[in-house]
Amino acid sequence: MADTLTITDNRTGKQYEIPVEQGAIRAMDLRQIRTSPDDFGLMTYDPAFQNTASCRSRITFIDGDKGVLLYRGYPIEQLAEASTYLETAYLILFGELPTSAQLDRWTREITLHTMLHENIKKFMEGFQYDAHPMGIFLSTVGALSTIYPDAKRIQDEETRRLQILRLIAKVPSIAAYAYRHSIGRPYIYPDNDLSFTGNFLNMLFKMTELKYRPHPVLERALDVLFILHADHEQNCSTSAMRGIGSSQADPYSSLAGAAAALYGPLHGGANEAVLRMLREIGTIKKVPDFITRVKRGEGRLMGFGHRVYKSYDPRARIIKQTADLVFEVTGRNPLLDIALELERIALEDDYFVSRKLYPNVDFYSGLIYQAMGFPEDMFPVLFAIPRTAGWLAQWDEMLRDTDQKIARPRQIYTGAALRDYVARDERK
Ligand code: CMC
Repeated sequence: MADTLTITDNRTGKQYEIPVEQGAIRAMDLRQIRTSPDDFGLMTYDPAFQNTASCRSRITFIDGDKGVLLYRGYPIEQLAEASTYLETAYLILFGELPTSAQLDRWTREITLHTMLHENIKKFMEGFQYDAHPMGIFLSTVGALSTIYPDAKRIQDEETRRLQILRLIAKVPSIAAYAYRHSIGRPYIYPDNDLSFTGNFLNMLFKMTELKYRPHPVLERALDVLFILHADHEQNCSTSAMRGIGSSQADPYSSLAGAAAALYGPLHGGANEAVLRMLREIGTIKKVPDFITRVKRGEGRLMGFGHRVYKSYDPRARIIKQTADLVFEVTGRNPLLDIALELERIALEDDYFVSRKLYPNVDFYSGLIYQAMGFPEDMFPVLFAIPRTAGWLAQWDEMLRDTDQKIARPRQIYTGAALRDYVARDERK
C-alpha cells in the first residue's frame, strides 16, 4: 500500500488521503481541502522556506544532524583530499567524475574561455576606486549578458554548455580585475599555462616578474577551499539562481542575482563579518565579554550556526586543517587565537550548545584568506568563484526538470480590506 497521510478537516468532518512520497507531501494536494466550492483551498505558511522542498535534486546531499556533505554521492572529505576544483566542478555539473580524457578536454575548454572582452575591462574602470569588489563582481557578471546575447537560448543544451564554460572560466578573471581595480594596479591577463587557482593567484598578485609562480601550498589550499564552496544545495543564493532562472532569464542575469544574495552578511558575506568581529574583539581577554553580549542578543557570533547543520560543519573541520598548512607558509594569523578561544567557549556554553550552534564554513576561511594576502572585502568574491559551479549545476538541473515552473510563492494577505479612495483634503 502506498504511504498516505490522512487529514480530517474538523470544519467539515471530511477526510482526505494525501500521498507521502520521499518523506514529503505535495503542497498542491492540500488545495483540495476546502470548506465550500468558492474556498481557495488550504495553503501552507512557511516563511523562509524552513520546511519546504522546492525541488528534487541529484547534486548535493547534506545530513545536518550528522555533519555529512556529499557531492553526487562523494564525501566532501575525500574530494578535498584527492580532487581538484575543476574536476569537482565537472562532477557537480555532469554527475560523474571525469575520465582522464574528459578532464583534459574540460580543462582545455575552460582555459580557452578565461579572457574577458576588452569592453568589460573598460566597463569595470567606471567603478569608484574604493568600490566593494563584490559589487563590481555581481554587476560585471550581469553585464556579460550584454556581450553574449546568445545566452538567452536557455532551452538549447549546447548553448547552455557554452555559457557554463564561459562563466566558470571568467569569474576568476572578473574577481581578479575587481581586486586590481580596487588597489589601482594594472590588470593581469590570464596565464593559461597555470592551473585554475594558480592562474587566479597570477591575475591577483603578479607584479613585474615575467612569469608568476604560485606557491604550491597556497595554490592547493585555495583549490581545497574552492572544492568546499562549490555547492551546498538549496541555500539562499542557489534559491535566487533557481528563482531568477525559472523566469527563463539568461544565466548571466540569474548568476548576478545569485551573487547578490551571496553578498549578505548572513550568507557569503559572513566570512568578511567574522574577520571584522575578530578585529573588534581584539584580544583573547575580551572574548568572554563578547560572548555575554551575543547571549544578550546584542549581535551574533558570526561564522556560527547554520540552517541545516545542527552539528559541526564538515567544511569547517577541513578548513581548520588547511589553515595549519597555510600558516606554515605565511606565518600564523594573530587573530587565530581569538577564533580558537571563541570556539572553545561557545562549544561549552549552554546558549550555543542548546541551540546547536557550531562553527560553519565561514568561521576559519577568512583567516586563511587574510594570511594569503586577500583584503577582507574580497572574501565574498572568493566564495562566489567556486559557487558558480553549484549555481550553474542547479540552474541546469532546474531547466531539465519537468516539475518546475516559474517560481511564484503565495502569500497570506494581512492588509486593509476593500475601501474607497479618500480625496487628499479629506484625509486625517
Ligand atoms: N550567534 C548567536 N546566536 C545565534 C546565531 C549566532 N551566530 N545563529 C543563530 N543564533 C540563535 C538565534 O538567535 C536563535 O535564538 P532564539 O531561538 O533564542 O531566538 C537560534 O539561534 C536559531 O537561530 P535562527 O536565526 O532561527 O537560525 P536560522 O536557521 O534562521 O539562521 C544563520 C541560520 C546561518 C543565518 C544564523 O545561524 C546566523 O545568522 N549565523 C551567523 C552568520 C553566519 O555565520 N552565516 C554563514 C552561514 S554558513 C555559509 C553560508 O550559508 O553562506
